[in-house]
Amino acid sequence: MQWSRIAVFASGQGSNFAALAEAERAGQLGGGRIELLVSDRPEAPVARRAEAAGIPSLLLRPKDFASRELYEAGIVAELQRRNIGLIVLAGYMRLISPVLLEPYAGRIINIHPSLLPAFAGKDAIGQALDYGVKLTGVTVHFVDGGMDTGPVIAQRSLAVEAGDTAESLAERIHRVEYELYPAVVAALAAGKVELDGRRAIIRA
Ligand code: GRF
Repeated sequence: MQWSRIAVFASGQGSNFAALAEAERAGQLGGGRIELLVSDRPEAPVARRAEAAGIPSLLLRPKDFASRELYEAGIVAELQRRNIGLIVLAGYMRLISPVLLEPYAGRIINIHPSLLPAFAGKDAIGQALDYGVKLTGVTVHFVDGGMDTGPVIAQRSLAVEAGDTAESLAERIHRVEYELYPAVVAALAAGKVELDGRRAIIRA
């Protein structure tokens, strides 16, 4: 499995998908190539972005399958057919079962809009605002069987301003995401990330 052959999974807007595709176009993805978009929502804007970028997509509705396992088995077959070596979750709104996790152990990453382990799960930006923290940020982490619990690869912090709304904070968080995620994907694609227990090390 080659780390440089990448599938991005997304359910919604796909602005991170677009940032990754743009980084690839600009030669800034460490030799990584986005070979496939996987979406569980064929009507999502991200599907149109993939089409516009000329990236093939696999659009499967989970409810068309008898179980989550069968849905994921369909995805795994396509990933293996395309020799995908790295799965990049970018706003993919589903938990992943062992059917996908086992063949891709240590090869699935996610981006989360908080400094994990704070504010895991849904609406991390709203959770951070409600809690009143002064610093929040973005985490890129390996995916394990839990909800946002896998080893951290990289984090960036940013300040919560007094007048912030969910929208204004989300906008600044997104800007950080568009820089951080391509940089981490580039490091993985180039084989520069090592894991020592829960500690990820990015080699220069
Ligand atoms: C991002 O904020 C990411 O951190 C979270 O989902 C959001 C996806 O946004 N996991 P987009 O679809 O990439 O625009």
